[in-house]
Amino acid sequence: MLTHRFSVAPMMDWTDRHCRVFHRLMTRRARLYTEMLTTGAIIHGDRQRLLGFDPSEHPVALQLGGSDPGDLAIAARIGEDFGYDEINLNVGCPSDRVKDGRFGACLMAEPGLVARGVDAMKRAVRIPVTVKCRIGIDDQDPEVALDVLARDVVAAGCDALIVHARKAWLNGLSPKENRDIPPLDYDRVYRLKAAMPDVPVIINGGIASLDEAKQHLGHVDGVMLGRAAYHDPWRLLAVDSELFGESAPHTAMKHVFEAMAPYIERQLAQGVRLHSITRHFVGAFHGVPGARAFRRHLAENGVKPGAGVNVLRDAVALVEDRVAASIAA
Ligand SMILES: Cc1cc2nc3c(=O)[nH]c(=O)nc-3n(C[C@H](O)[C@H](O)[C@H](O)COP(=O)(O)O)c2cc1C
Repeated sequence: MLTHRFSVAPMMDWTDRHCRVFHRLMTRRARLYTEMLTTGAIIHGDRQRLLGFDPSEHPVALQLGGSDPGDLAIAARIGEDFGYDEINLNVGCPSDRVKDGRFGACLMAEPGLVARGVDAMKRAVRIPVTVKCRIGIDDQDPEVALDVLARDVVAAGCDALIVHARKAWLNGLSPKENRDIPPLDYDRVYRLKAAMPDVPVIINGGIASLDEAKQHLGHVDGVMLGRAAYHDPWRLLAVDSELFGESAPHTAMKHVFEAMAPYIERQLAQGVRLHSITRHFVGAFHGVPGARAFRRHLAENGVKPGAGVNVLRDAVALVEDRVAASIAA
C-alpha cells in the first residue's frame, strides 16, 4: 500500500544517501526521496554511485528529471531494478539548467508530454509512479493549469500527486527565490484534492512543523517537508508517534547517532569522508546546552583527513544528556 502521509522532500545536494539513512533512524514511516537525477545521468552515468542506497532507507523514492518518454521509461526501469519503491517525476524544479533541458517546472506548460512520460514509465515498471509539480508557472492560471496537468497525468496512470503549493516564476527568479517569493496557496491544493477524491494528493511548501502538518492532513492525504526536515532533523523524531500513532525507532538524537555509527564506519572503510556524512547533522540538536559545541567540534574536526567516527562521538559527548534525551516535538 502506497502511504504518503508524511515524506521528506527531494533536495539536491541535501537528501543524499547518507542524509536519508540519518532520517530513517528517526522515523520508520516517512517516505524518503532522492535528489533529482536526470535520465541522462542514469542511462549514461555511474549507476552504482548515483543510485546505490542502503537497504535501511526503504521506503525510498527515486526522483527523475527528464521529459523524453523513452528515456524516462528506461531510467524508471533501472530505478526499479535497483530496488526503489517509487519513481517520482520532477515537474517543479525551476533552475535554468533544467529549463534548457526541457524538464522540471517548465513542463507545467506541456501536460501532454508529461502524461506521455508517465504512461511510458507505468508501462515499464510495477512500482508506483508519481509526479511532483507546482500549482502553475509564470502567467498560467493555477485554477486551470494544475487541473489540466493533474487530469492528464492521472489518466496516464500517475499514482499520486505532490504539489508544491506555489507557482514557479521561470523568468527572473533564482531557484532559491522560487522557493520563497511566489506566494503559497494551500487552498488551491485542497481544491485539487476535493476535485480528485480518489487520487492521493500530497501538499508541500513552507510547512514548518508537525503541528502545521497535522492541519494539512485534514484536507489532503499527505504532507511533504523539505527545509524544515533538513534544517531541524530533530522534528523527525516525533513523526511516527504524532502522525502514525506508533513508537519511533529512537527517542533521542544521541541514540540515533549510536545507531548510525556502524553505517558510518562501513562508509569510511569504503573511502567516504566523514564530513560528507556529518554535514547533515548541523541542526541535530536544537535549543540544547552543548548544541553549539557539537556543531563546532564537527566543523573543525570532521573535515580533517582521516577523521573517524570518534569525532562524532566526541561531538555528541559535548551535548548535555539530560535535555538531549527528550524528544522535541
Ligand atoms: C537545497 C534544495 C534542493 C532542492 N532540490 C529539489 C529537487 O532535486 N527536486 C525537487 O523536486 N525539488 C527540490 N527542491 C524543492 C523541495 O523539494 C521543496 O519542494 C521545496 O523546498 C518546498 O518545500 P519546503 O518549504 O518544505 O522546503 C529543493 C529544495 C532545496 C531547499
